[in-house]
Amino acid sequence: MSGSLYRATVGRAFARLYDRVLRVSEEAGLSDCRHALLAGASGATLEIGAGTGLNLAHYPEAVTELVLTEPGEHMVRRLWDAVAAGPRQAEVVCAPADRLPFANDRFDTVVCTLVLCTATSPGAALEEVKRVLRPGGRFLFIEHVRSQDDRIARWQDRLDPIHSFVADGCHPNRDTLAAIEASGLTVESVQHTRLPKAAAYLRPMIVGSAVASREP
Ligand SMILES: C[S@@+](CC[C@H](N)C(=O)[O-])C[C@H]1O[C@@H](n2cnc3c(N)ncnc32)[C@H](O)[C@@H]1O
Repeated sequence: MSGSLYRATVGRAFARLYDRVLRVSEEAGLSDCRHALLAGASGATLEIGAGTGLNLAHYPEAVTELVLTEPGEHMVRRLWDAVAAGPRQAEVVCAPADRLPFANDRFDTVVCTLVLCTATSPGAALEEVKRVLRPGGRFLFIEHVRSQDDRIARWQDRLDPIHSFVADGCHPNRDTLAAIEASGLTVESVQHTRLPKAAAYLRPMIVGSAVASREP
């Protein structure tokens, strides 16, 4: 099987199985975690890498406009269906996070859940997040990350090639908090917690928010 045929096959299977695979974690607390995080969203809100739309049910009334981006062709079809089936109005845009087709300072909130583990270039994606957030705007994130425990981190490094091969490019060993800090967004809160019911090497998770400040 050629590389591109393999990627297309995995992409289709990943999109089809995603909600089923995640259900056990959602029911064990991930859904509550999404809800609590998204209570902080307001105004014009962008979600990057929205997947099958698992955050849709959690956006509060304070969100006055919702734009969802998703680059995966199989995921985006599911996202369109989820938006069409639900009560929450949202615009769906097929785009990767590192090339967002929006003006500078366009959004009050940007949401990113379980995406920076997969994005080809998390640094470029975060640059774009910072660009489209208005000064004072908020970046809300949930990400599974590199463990702070060296022993588990070594396992994450060992398992990275096989995991990213079967899980549509997801890397279990990324230090995403460091990437957020390096992007120039100011982290205002972060909780080191666990992805419920996940394998040990996928369990370390961060939940938090960061603020975009005006360039000096
Ligand atoms: C593990 S899924 C998470 C989906 C959803 N955000 C959630 O919380 O359930 C990872 C998502 O990131 C998307 N993705 C991959 N590369 C991306 C990129 N460069 N920019 C934005 N999204 C990307 C994938 O298509 C997929 O929908």
